[in-house]
Amino acid sequence: MSVTQQQVLDALAAVRSPRGVALTSANVLSPVTVTDGKVFLSISVDANEARAWETVRAQAESVVRALPGVASAMVALTAERKAGSAPSRPRAEAGVAPAATHRPPHSPAGSPMARQAEIPGIAAVIAVASGKGGVGKSTTAVNLALGLRDLGLRVGLLDADIYGPSVPRLTGIREKPELNDERKMIPIQRFGLAVMSIGFLVEEDTAMIWRGPMVMSAITQMLRDVTWGTLDVLVVDMPPGTGDAQLTLAQNVPLKGAIIISTPQDLSLIDARRGLAMFKKVNVPVLGIVENMSYFQCPHCGTRSDIFGHGGARHEAERLGVPFLGEIPLHMAIRTTSDAGNPVVVSEPDGPHAAIYRAIGASVRNQLKGAIAAA
Ligand SMILES: Nc1ncnc2c1ncn2[C@@H]1O[C@H](COP(=O)(O)OP(=O)(O)O)[C@@H](O)[C@H]1O
Ligand SMILES: [Mg+2]
Repeated sequence: MSVTQQQVLDALAAVRSPRGVALTSANVLSPVTVTDGKVFLSISVDANEARAWETVRAQAESVVRALPGVASAMVALTAERKAGSAPSRPRAEAGVAPAATHRPPHSPAGSPMARQAEIPGIAAVIAVASGKGGVGKSTTAVNLALGLRDLGLRVGLLDADIYGPSVPRLTGIREKPELNDERKMIPIQRFGLAVMSIGFLVEEDTAMIWRGPMVMSAITQMLRDVTWGTLDVLVVDMPPGTGDAQLTLAQNVPLKGAIIISTPQDLSLIDARRGLAMFKKVNVPVLGIVENMSYFQCPHCGTRSDIFGHGGARHEAERLGVPFLGEIPLHMAIRTTSDAGNPVVVSEPDGPHAAIYRAIGASVRNQLKGAIAAA
């Protein structure tokens, strides 16, 4: 029997807030999401009260987790600034808050990077991004992570795609992360990778209508409240697109670089350009562009057809002065292995596709050498 929203609220009513009333009466809770026993909610308070609320957040999480029928519980604490101290917008407006609301009211000197604490034990966090969905971002992220693993690096994979987390499917992971004594999530080990996904906490097809601060808080927890151990590279599968949610993420995650996935069609190249502009804005170096579904390779005869007019991404990369990392064919094996939770670098390690992902990995590793060696 799965837990109901009401049962969660009843449990939360027993938690006292710093305002002297029950947590449920403090006017700070988001709607409670319950999917298959996985509970998610957030507490939104003013930024200067946040410290006092951390224990409440932890208490809320433990009372919910103790309920029968709860598989996992995540309570995020989101700090919002008082109206007037930052650009504000109507509370009732749905969707993601503009990135500007997450900036300090008076920008301190230095780049946004200055506010992003490094994650202890992780030498380099890199983003895999795309201007739009469906271009093969997740497929590339997973296989690239495996390619980096094959180069002897210690690699983690974080699925931060709140709109469509697909890493559970791509890796065939069905279990949920456990907590250690300090209540940190232990990433799932699969194919030699440490894996975390927002999909372990919510369903893949749950329409994500979280507000910006909730998104950030969930991502921050998945970055920092996880026992990643020592990693050379953490590959982050970003939400597709270049809107406020993506910008906020790029701004708040200590990224050493970003990789942009594009298909050869013009439209997605335009989207890729937007991606480049976004990372430039937040001073994250673009490690390069990958052209996915670059050409069609017949699974029967191996003949290559450039059905989308291939090569656009390479030209675009040259024009924009960013590295071109490689082209991945549109091939049946890449799709079927992904859908079966057994990515092509694992299932066909000696095949041509694995070699391509390893070559892209090598180029990425070479660009990160400074960071990896310093760790
Ligand atoms: N190079 C490729 N060849 C064949 N199919 C691919 C390739 N790259 C991705 N796909 C398939 O395309 C679909 C979308 O890929 P996915 O990685 O989920 O995209 P995104 O994360 O950008 O939404 C999936 O079914 C995936 O298996
Ligand atoms: Mg995806």
